[in-house]
Formats: sequence, C-alpha cells, structure tokens
Amino acid sequence: MTLVTEDRVVLTARRTLSVCVVSSETGAELIGENLERMGYPVYTTPSAQDALGRIRNGQHRVVLVEMGHGEMTGLEFLERALEIDPGVYVILIGDGRPVEEAVESIKRGAWDFIERPIDWIHLERALERLGEEFGRRAHIRDLEERLLSHLEFHGIVGRSPAIIDVFERVQKISRHFTNVLVVGPTGSGKELVAWALHKLSPVSSQRFAVCNCSALVDTLLESQLFGHVRGAFTGATDTRPGLFEYANGGTVFLDEIGEMSLGMQSKLLRVIENREIQRVGSPEVRKVDVRLVAATNRDLRAEVMAGRFREDLFYRLSTLEIRVPSLAERIEDLPLLVQFFLKKYNQAYGKSVRGLTRRAQAVLLRYHWPGNVREMENVVSSACLTAESSFIDIADLPPHLQKPHPAALDLDDTWRPVSLDEVRRLHIGRVLEFCAGNRVRAAQILGIGRTSLYRHFKRESRLKAKQMKEA
Ligand SMILES: Nc1ncnc2c1ncn2[C@@H]1O[C@H](COP(=O)(O)OP(=O)(O)OP(=O)(O)O)[C@@H](O)[C@H]1O
Ligand SMILES: [Mg+2]
Repeated sequence: MTLVTEDRVVLTARRTLSVCVVSSETGAELIGENLERMGYPVYTTPSAQDALGRIRNGQHRVVLVEMGHGEMTGLEFLERALEIDPGVYVILIGDGRPVEEAVESIKRGAWDFIERPIDWIHLERALERLGEEFGRRAHIRDLEERLLSHLEFHGIVGRSPAIIDVFERVQKISRHFTNVLVVGPTGSGKELVAWALHKLSPVSSQRFAVCNCSALVDTLLESQLFGHVRGAFTGATDTRPGLFEYANGGTVFLDEIGEMSLGMQSKLLRVIENREIQRVGSPEVRKVDVRLVAATNRDLRAEVMAGRFREDLFYRLSTLEIRVPSLAERIEDLPLLVQFFLKKYNQAYGKSVRGLTRRAQAVLLRYHWPGNVREMENVVSSACLTAESSFIDIADLPPHLQKPHPAALDLDDTWRPVSLDEVRRLHIGRVLEFCAGNRVRAAQILGIGRTSLYRHFKRESRLKAKQMKEA
C-alpha cells in the first residue's frame, strides 16, 4: 500500500478535506485508520441518520458509505444526502453485489463507487481527484471574484456584448451631453446608468439630484423641480429653491418621465430650451446650468403617437438615447450578477453562501425575468437569507421559479390548429409581453419595422371594433 505521501502540500490540502465514514463498526475502524494515515481528518459513524445530520450542518464535503448497511440502502442514503446538500460528494462502497449498482449510483450522483474488498489505491486516487476538483472550484471562484472588480462599471455589473455597448455609450456621451434619454424595462438599471453618466461627466463633483416624476401630483412636482415662493399656494410657508437650482452646475435626473402630465411636459420643455426656470408664484426668471438625464420604461414614440407625450419634448430629449437591455437579452451576465449580489448579501446578513447548485443555476437561466435585475437581486437576497447550506438550491427559490413558466413551454404544448393570422397575432402578443410593452424593442426582436408593427395594432383595433359592432 502506498498510503502515505510525503509531499507536504498534498498533506496540507488533505487536512482541509474532512471525510465522514458510514460503516459497520469493524469496517469503519479499518477505513478510518487508513484514511487517517493518508492524511484526511475522519469521522466514523455506524448511523446513517447521524451522518445526514452532520451533512445538514455542513460538517463534511465527502462521505464514504457502505452499501446495504444499517437503516437505509446506500442509494437511499445518496438520495437523502444530495437532497440535504447537493454540493456533498458521496463515495459508495459496494457489498459484493452485481456491477449494475455501481452504474446506478454514479447515474444518481455519486462521486465514485468502490468495490469490496477495498482497493486502497483506488480509494486514495478517488479522494485525490476530489481534492483537485475542490481546488479547481476554489480557484475559479477566486478568479471570478477578482474578475468581478474589472467587470463592474460604476456599480453596473456585466460582461455581455449588450451591456458593454451600454458602458461604451455612457463613456462617450458622458463628456458632452446636455440632455440624455435612458430607456429600458423596469429594474434593468436605468438609474445606475444615470448615475454613471454623472460620475463620468466633467461635473461629477457637483450635485446629482433625483426626482421621480410619477410619485407627485402636478402642483407638487412643479414646486419640487422649480421651487416656490412664500404664499405661492396653501401651505407654502417659506420660499424654497427647486431641484434645478439645487443641482445648478451639476445633473438633474428625472425618473419615469413618461408619467409626466402634458401640462408639466410643456413647462419642462421651456427649461430644456432656455435653461431658465421660474419658481412657482414668482415672475422672476432664473438661469440654471444643469445637465439633464431623463429615464422611462415606456415606449415614448408610442406615447407620442397616442398623444400622451409631446413630440417636441421627445425630440429634445432623445437626440442622445441609451437603451438598457433587459436581463433576458443578456442572460449570460446572470452568473456574474449572482456572485455580485451574493457578496453584497453575505456581508449584509453575515452569511457565507458560496454559490448556486447547478440545478438552481439552470432554473435561473431558464426564467424570463420580467422584473429584470431588480427581481433577480430580490431572489438572490431572500435565498441567501434562507439557505441553510453553503449553496443555494431550488428549494430556496420562490415557488413561481420552481415551476416551469408557461412562456418557457414548448410551443407544441399549447399547439392547436389555427390560422396563420392567429399565429401572427399570438406571437406578436407574446413578444410584446416579453419586452414589457416596449414596441420598439418588440419590432427589433420580430425583425419587422416599427411602422409594420403599428399597422398591425391599427388593424387589430379596427378588427376588434368591427367585432364589437357585430356583437
Ligand atoms: N447591471 C447591474 N449591476 C448591478 N446591479 C444592478 C444592475 N442593474 C440593476 N441593478 C440593481 O437592480 C436594481 C434596479 O436598478 P435600477 O433602479 O437602476 O432600475 P431601473 O431601470 O431604474 O428600474 P425602474 O424602471 O423600475 O425605475 C437596483 O438595486 C440596482 O442596483
Ligand atoms: Mg428607476
């Protein structure tokens, strides 16, 4: 037997790999002694339940189990152990029965299968490979962590071509803009882009003032943006400057601009055209020197067509436009984002979750993320809080993620004989839903012009009106 390897590095690595042996008392003793001689810390127990409890507590990454021993069969033990911690490595020791068991156990997720009588060299090699696997994974995690700091652009994490285009555009625009429009679905990171635009601009040391245009009624919004003088309206007990004055010399970020009323839009247009404001209740005109970033998750072109958004304001704002892609369009960024948020929430909750199990990661990659990065951040944060083992598994994810989403189902599952017109209508509807109502994006995905898409909607509404008349 070549059990003891002199190499100090190998021995040190082995000392970090704690092995649990589940075997009858005499068998356990022999296995335990040999493993200890190889340099592994060993815990031996005749009880499968005891071993499962220790796996639950995260005390062992490797378990050696004698098949057909005690309270449950080796395969039952394997199943339970992987259920508790999908990251645990189980090596089964055969009981002399046919080889099919070996194949079955590997198929069900065992790391290796050792025949009886135990071939100690085989066992030493199996553990050796396992040590290498752990080392490789730790190395990858370490590299990814170091990479993370390079793949973060002013708080925006990503490495997909779609997000790198955004970084490049932000970098180019930030130096020279006066007005920029940031568009993209909800939770995609528009506010982060606005902040990056300010931080990279020549006025980064000045103020960055944020206003959510959907949160305030017109009168309050006007006074918030332009300020008011004492007595301008009931409750105006003092004179106050608005955000444009507060951020003079810096940047104003108008979030949810698509929700602004037409009346407020015309007031804003005056500010954009002349860089002048008037406090509510005052005739005095004041000059302001601000850069303006506006953001919306609405399709402003469609809003203009529907008469809800001023065309002149839209053209003023959209001469420079940055489109932030949905998470589904850059799903390859998901593992990196998971890591980023795990780091953040491990720190916040004092946890040490290391990652996702492969099957949990597959679930996240398949999901269509209508709430984009914000939704994903929430999923990771709550899974991090509730996860009991060091890897997040499917059971830690919210129930709607555990079920396959209808949109992800194969078309065949919902197939029924319909006309081509009906297929077209259904497909356009689905794509539009996928793009959270953004018609520009939907037209891009469908590979048709925007005007064709608008024609489709016109035709649809004419058809609906006709049907209603007939009914
Ligand atoms: N690429 C990213 N990297 C890291 N965090 C991100 C990224 N994108 C978004 N987030 C995070 O997701 C959350 C939502 O981002 P943000 O508020 O910028 O979205 P939004 O597009 O402004 O959404 P809404 O349209 O609903 O206002 C924030 O907590 C933000 O930090
Ligand atoms: Mg926002």
